[in-house]
Amino acid sequence: MKSQDIRKAYLQFFESKGHLIVPSAPIVLKDDPTLMFNNSGMAQFKEYFLGNATPKSNRITDTQKCLRVSGKHNDLEDVGFDTYHHTMFEMLGNWSFGDYFKKEALPWAWEFLTEVLKLDKDRLYVSVFEGNEAENVPFDQEAFDIWKQFVPEDRIILGNKKDNFWEMGDQGPCGPCSEIHIDLRTDEERAEVSGFSLVNADHPQVVEIWNNVFMEFNRKADGSLEKLPAQHVDTGMGFERLCMAMQNVTSNYDTDVFTPLIEKVEQITGLKYVRTGRDLSIQSNIAIRVIVDHVRAVAFAIADGQLPSNTGAGYVIRRILRRAIRYGFTFLNTKEPFIFELVAVLADQMGEFFPEIKKQQTLVTNVIREEEASFLRTLDQGLQLLENVVAETKGTEVSGVKAFELYDTFGFPKDLTALILKEKGMSFNEGEFEASMQAQKSRSRAASEVSTDDWKVLVEGNVESFVGYDQAENEVKITRIRKVDSKKDGVMYQIVLDATPFYPEGGGQVGDKGTLVSANETIEIIDTKKENNLILHFAKQLPENINASFVAKVNTDLRASTAKNHSATHLMHQALRTILGTHVEQKGSLVNPNYLRFDFSHFSKVTDEELQQVEDFVNERIQEQLPLIERRSIPIQQALDEGAMALFGEKYGDNVRAIKFGSSMELCGGIHVNNTAEIWHFKIVSEGAVAAGIRRMEAITSQAVKDFYASQENLLGEIKATLKNPQDTIKAVVALQDENAKLKKQLEALLKDKAKNMKAELAQELQEVNGIQFLAKQVDLNPEGAKDLAYELGNLGTNLFLVLATADEGKPMLTCYISKELVADKGLNAGQVVRELGKCIQGGGGGQPFFATAGGKNIAGISEALEKAINFVK
Ligand code: ALA
Repeated sequence: MKSQDIRKAYLQFFESKGHLIVPSAPIVLKDDPTLMFNNSGMAQFKEYFLGNATPKSNRITDTQKCLRVSGKHNDLEDVGFDTYHHTMFEMLGNWSFGDYFKKEALPWAWEFLTEVLKLDKDRLYVSVFEGNEAENVPFDQEAFDIWKQFVPEDRIILGNKKDNFWEMGDQGPCGPCSEIHIDLRTDEERAEVSGFSLVNADHPQVVEIWNNVFMEFNRKADGSLEKLPAQHVDTGMGFERLCMAMQNVTSNYDTDVFTPLIEKVEQITGLKYVRTGRDLSIQSNIAIRVIVDHVRAVAFAIADGQLPSNTGAGYVIRRILRRAIRYGFTFLNTKEPFIFELVAVLADQMGEFFPEIKKQQTLVTNVIREEEASFLRTLDQGLQLLENVVAETKGTEVSGVKAFELYDTFGFPKDLTALILKEKGMSFNEGEFEASMQAQKSRSRAASEVSTDDWKVLVEGNVESFVGYDQAENEVKITRIRKVDSKKDGVMYQIVLDATPFYPEGGGQVGDKGTLVSANETIEIIDTKKENNLILHFAKQLPENINASFVAKVNTDLRASTAKNHSATHLMHQALRTILGTHVEQKGSLVNPNYLRFDFSHFSKVTDEELQQVEDFVNERIQEQLPLIERRSIPIQQALDEGAMALFGEKYGDNVRAIKFGSSMELCGGIHVNNTAEIWHFKIVSEGAVAAGIRRMEAITSQAVKDFYASQENLLGEIKATLKNPQDTIKAVVALQDENAKLKKQLEALLKDKAKNMKAELAQELQEVNGIQFLAKQVDLNPEGAKDLAYELGNLGTNLFLVLATADEGKPMLTCYISKELVADKGLNAGQVVRELGKCIQGGGGGQPFFATAGGKNIAGISEALEKAINFVK
């Protein structure tokens, strides 16, 4: 079966068992601060298990794009070295939310594998939880008894807490689980060693394919288990491993999920991938596996809206891509970008099921190519720096601290450093490297330490609602409180209210600020954020009486400014698509009370004329006084049919909110003005690039525009005053420039004269060393003057070796002149001289063999440089 058909068969099977098929959630999570990426099928359903939200069906099935590259589930460093771990993989899953349990889930799993897919029963092993006294969770007798109906007892493995108790993270829903493993070895191998002994033993051909978790508990902050309100089923089957079993191969990379990508790499590099599944030590094979795995993770993350960057999720994506680039660089000898070429293959292969990769193909390709080019430049720089380090090293061992510096500051990988040094018969001090690494890790760990208490629940149940579209004030009760202590922000309380007017950060718009006011006290709310379905109000302190009634009051001044910027963002989005074209897509946005920032796909600089057009377009919509048309809840398809803009990587419900101003219509949950007239005026303040194919614009509205013009006017006033209030300011500036140019010319002439005079003096000071006319001296000239002087002296005669130093405007500079015959006969080289002496002034430079200069930072080093110069002629 082809992978496409295997996926379909799974979804259809569970559809026939009453499950609703839903699309994969985006790979990058937005509303869960405890998790950066979707790392399992159940992540998007966490709140259903906890009882904080209600699913639209209590039986759901899907295939989820997962990424296991950070946090509790992290397989990054294994990828490439084995044949069955991945960064991105698909997890086929079926879920019961308080509906069916073990006696349905396990027989269905068996039926699907053995009757629909017809996998060999005698290659399958199952495991059940053996129980754990300390946790007070008993042996899973029920699962054991169910399995006994299908599997001989000697194929049922009892597993401990590590293997058979599944938890999504340090806190959250969890429960005992039952896994299905498959033995894909040959019959001879199976006859020799029983598969039973190889289950959970990291054997590449005896692997887990399916996990059935019986969610019954919630792991609390103090480590204890609490019963969930209902019993649920959460299953996850590794799609690529299932394909391996179905396609009769012994490596995930030999399935049709990967072979088209591998063939493309072979075609680009001219190298062959050895397909055996048992080739684990061939370095080019490892590199190819790394590359075809990583390109999937990176491409899907970008398609879901996560661009590579220097922080957070973006940094994780950048590091994955860099890992692929350096494996190519080192083992496939790829010195030019090439990974971007795999995107087309991926889009062809996966585009039918995951349309986002096809629709975003151009952007994904461009971003990857640019990242590759820039990291290859970094590697180049790193190589040069490594050369310098080698030159400074006495003996064969380079300092581990230096190797770490290369790694830390320039992203130059440790294994590459080791490899290059090895080629020179050298190495670096591993112990020092590790110590530097550990020191840095513990510094950053300490800085990001957070401890989160369990919720203190004051009012039970799923009671929160948001009333902020209609009200900025509401009478409320506190329903939950949690304390969070972090190194970064100190102690902070998160408060949940029954019906809040506070808008939680989302869709680019910052969270509301305001107060909670009771009869006796006022608590500042400094921010509002969403965590899954809860709206968290952040406060530095708690009210004394948490059970009191409060009035929750949003700071309406800030909110009004934010609303203007948010509505202007929609108008600007429409303007960009109208003026630049419909390839423009939103790639990021920030809306706060002060300004708006908008990132979008577009492949060239936006010209001044286009900027003016965008500004005019938005200001015209403001003048038209367009009223807000808010559709609070309409079916998503209807909204899309009416032309509403939706974003990639955003998870929408069946019913959505649509915001309309004239012909601009977007799916949006944010706060807006009632009429575009409130925006008053719109002004773009900057435009630039943030990544390949991504531009960023910043703009202001309303009062900020007034302030902007007022400050421009002030500035002009000051300029006029400085110029002594001339009648015509421009004329006065031009006159100044003209005068300056005239004075410069005069100065140059004077300096030339000075150099001539000096020439006579210096000619007297030439010293003969080994038949060479030698002089090294600091002169009171600018670098241009020193150059003239050197050439003048050069004209005087033959066999001249000159080093002149200057310290014009506080900058040390060395100028070296060597007569042509010395260059030819003695092999002296001015470039080499200034590079060597340049070290004394902490600088560098170069030039030709007879003339070169070096600039530096350390004036105090000039005398040392001049003293050393004589060594070259000696
Ligand atoms: N949530 C379970 C897993 O990821 C099914 O293995």
